[in-house]
Amino acid sequence: MIDSPIEKEKFLAAEHAVNLVENHMIVGLGSGSTVYYFLRLLGERVSKGLSIKGIPTSGRSETIAREVNIPITTLQEHTEIDLTIDGADEFDPQLNLIKGGGGALLREKIVASNSKKMVVIADSAKQVKKLGKFPLPVEVIPFSYPALLKRFDREGFNPILRTSGGEKPYVTDEGNYIIDCHLGMVDDPIQLSAWFDATPGVVCQGFFINMASKVIMGKGELVEIIRKSS
Ligand code: A5P
Repeated sequence: MIDSPIEKEKFLAAEHAVNLVENHMIVGLGSGSTVYYFLRLLGERVSKGLSIKGIPTSGRSETIAREVNIPITTLQEHTEIDLTIDGADEFDPQLNLIKGGGGALLREKIVASNSKKMVVIADSAKQVKKLGKFPLPVEVIPFSYPALLKRFDREGFNPILRTSGGEKPYVTDEGNYIIDCHLGMVDDPIQLSAWFDATPGVVCQGFFINMASKVIMGKGELVEIIRKSS
């Protein structure tokens, strides 16, 4: 049962997005609580005869997809994905995103960048004028993390090593750590994204620049389709 306005918005966005999936598509299956609704709805369409294959972006999404009988495939078998549906932690008017709150950013970025189309589903709290209030997840090689924590601190990024409950670092599906950078409002996400990408030890960072083709946002009882503003 959907019992909060935010959950309702997530559901509405997912419900709209599931109709974008067409027969025989290879579909990138994102991660997170909004995608959870999408997976369940997609499973319903599959049970009624829709023939697709999904590539999950996290162990959690793979588990849910299998539970609802969505056929799973891999990037090894299908290097080109027709459509990816994924959530976001923030999106700006250019449809640049911050992702990775759930820790699945690396596979999410690989899947999104190999997709003909990436559509974001989100509740209205994710819409921002400028990215950065949500801490930017940066996935790093465990060997590099103490040095990177210092380096990010010197840059003024207020970095915090993500832990899984206690003291132990959170470990991603790919065996890496995540440093969450508290940036505040970011004026130039493209430049900052490039800076992180050029830093040795960084495997992936949560800015998704120029990847989303549109955002389907639940707002109250309605759905808004948001395209890039020029
Ligand atoms: C997972 O790592 C994230 O990128 C999610 O896509 C993002 O955190 C959105 O999740 P929700 O739909 O749960 O808000």
